Amino acid sequence: MSRAVAIPNTAPFSEEDVELLNRVVGPATAVQRAWLAGFLAGVEQAAGTAHPATAAHSVEPLTIVFASESGNSEKLASDMARQSRKLGFRSTLIDMADLDLAALASARRLVVIAATWGEGEPPGRAARVYSALMKEGAPRLDGVEYGVLALGDTAYAEFCAVGKRIDERLAELGAKRIVARIDCDLDFAEPAANWIGAALEALTPPAAERSRVIEVDFSGNAAAKSNSGIVEAEIVDHVNLNSSRSAKETIHLALAFDGVVPAYEPGDSLDLYAENDPAYVEELLALTSLSKDDALRGELLTARDVTTLSLKTLDSYTALTGHRDVKTLIAEGQAREWIAGRQLIDLVANFPSALSAEQLRGLTRPLSPRAYSIASSRREAADEAHILVSAVRYTAHGRARKGAASNYVAERLKPGARVRVKLRPNRHFALPDPGRDIIMVGPGTGVAPFRAFVQDRRVTQAKGKSWLFFGDRNFTHDFLYQLEWQEALKEGSLTRMDVAFSRDRPEKTYVQHKMWDRRRELIDWLDNGAHFYVCGDVKAMAKDVRATLTRAYADVKSLTPEAADAAIADLERDKRYLQDVY
Ligand SMILES: Cc1cc2nc3c(=O)[nH]c(=O)nc-3n(C[C@H](O)[C@H](O)[C@H](O)COP(=O)(O)OP(=O)(O)OC[C@H]3O[C@@H](n4cnc5c(N)ncnc54)[C@H](O)[C@@H]3O)c2cc1C
Ligand SMILES: Cc1cc2nc3c(=O)[nH]c(=O)nc-3n(C[C@H](O)[C@H](O)[C@H](O)COP(=O)(O)O)c2cc1C
Repeated sequence: MSRAVAIPNTAPFSEEDVELLNRVVGPATAVQRAWLAGFLAGVEQAAGTAHPATAAHSVEPLTIVFASESGNSEKLASDMARQSRKLGFRSTLIDMADLDLAALASARRLVVIAATWGEGEPPGRAARVYSALMKEGAPRLDGVEYGVLALGDTAYAEFCAVGKRIDERLAELGAKRIVARIDCDLDFAEPAANWIGAALEALTPPAAERSRVIEVDFSGNAAAKSNSGIVEAEIVDHVNLNSSRSAKETIHLALAFDGVVPAYEPGDSLDLYAENDPAYVEELLALTSLSKDDALRGELLTARDVTTLSLKTLDSYTALTGHRDVKTLIAEGQAREWIAGRQLIDLVANFPSALSAEQLRGLTRPLSPRAYSIASSRREAADEAHILVSAVRYTAHGRARKGAASNYVAERLKPGARVRVKLRPNRHFALPDPGRDIIMVGPGTGVAPFRAFVQDRRVTQAKGKSWLFFGDRNFTHDFLYQLEWQEALKEGSLTRMDVAFSRDRPEKTYVQHKMWDRRRELIDWLDNGAHFYVCGDVKAMAKDVRATLTRAYADVKSLTPEAADAAIADLERDKRYLQDVY
């Protein structure tokens, strides 16, 4: 008979890894165990990397804090925690939203991985702690050794502003920077993985001071993993939900997976890998006299970000071409103003210069996927996933512009076409227990995850009530999924719905106005334990909704503005005020 084996928690693996190992090794037969032992010993011997048979349990503490909105910083932080545990650190992973600032003073080694959102702002969940960190009264951090990894996007004027401010602030508070900050663009996988490796090395105390550990990394680096999880799907439905007389175009896209359907949950998103506008690429190639280069054309269409124009692009262009006018723009401090609303094509059109294919490629960064909230529940949609994509079109500096991914979806994807997507899970925007009430505020495409919520609750016959606030421009032309909401209201999977159409009347009405009108019931629902969800526009809507809810608390409960603010902060701490905004 075979004896069950349990890997002890003291093993130099993360808790998840110990669990996984136990699942395999636990029920293995004596023969299987002997084979595994021999196999691993053989691998080590062949590689000439024999290690001590047992590892001492490590005691080196490391605190890893992440400030994340769409999960990139969180993923890097959890990769780093896993890697650090294998190196023998006793790592603690903390969402900045849950960070007790006072406790930070006792952290010996600290890593902060922080994204920048809005226009130079912290991710929503992290905002409260971030602002306390920046205020007088933040604890002294003398004796703490730290490093900061900043995530951002060079297309934004305030590139990595949050990571930069945190880095400065930790030093001001007395902490000692022992690894230089890195500011990562959207193609962060490789630089971030390298930084994490270097930071762990810098944070590792000299050998004499630390416990003996096994330094083996079976995981490979994050860069190598970044492409995993991409799957192909077929477009099976492509419908514009706006009327033909609407100024907008919002595509309901149904994707069918013939292999394994990504294991998505309500609240998750899909990263979609788009292709660039062929007309734009042709113009760019023509302006740079590179139209004959088919290999470059293919690459620019599918793999490079050909529209973003950042300060970095301007610097690179000057270095490449020595263009005097661009140099002047930079020297006179006008570069930031000039790039606002412009794209790479404006640079080569306004300041022409001969470029080689390699130089043009070098002016672009890799084309990043775009995230779209999943608008279906797997319990209802089975082997499909639905997304809702609003075509981004505008005119700036006299040129008509098109968002890359949204117009790829709206103009070039047709039923039968195939597209590459990757699941982007979001456990911070999940449905609560089926008995809990939910309030959902989702104007425009912000309504997408709430379609998934309502579908899911219909299938699971959840007992909790649900209330949706939806808004767009015109009732007649822009009421996304109107019939489905009416049906859901009729059968009871949606309890209540309030709509705000901003352009139906002379005075503009938005979802926050409807919330204000219904403030008594809204606060009643929240007092009864409802979860409050906001999805959609980060610039104005999310802030207005929060401000309105704060005012509603103050008004209904006769609170001071400070006490009303505290009530919302409590909701956030309880994970009952949840947002997914972009
Ligand atoms: C977690 C998450 C979920 C999301 N869910 C959805 C969703 O469900 N549905 C959806 O449609 N989108 C969603 N988005 C947004 C989506 O990912 C893309 O950002 C959006 O579709 C635009 O991408 P694009 O490639 O078409 O535009 P891009 O090529 O990226 O161009 C967009 C850029 O154009 C510029 N721009 C846009 N409008 C103007 C203007 N009027 N004036 C000047 N400049 C302008 C801005 O610089 C903007 O950043 C989500 C984003 C995130 C992060
Ligand atoms: C709506 C929106 C606003 C953003 N604003 C900024 C910004 O002001 N500065 C910046 O450097 N990056 C900005 N970014 C880029 C994010 O920081 C970047 O995507 C990062 O990888 C997100 O990390 P997270 O998933 O951990 O939130 C923005 C991204 C989005 C979608």
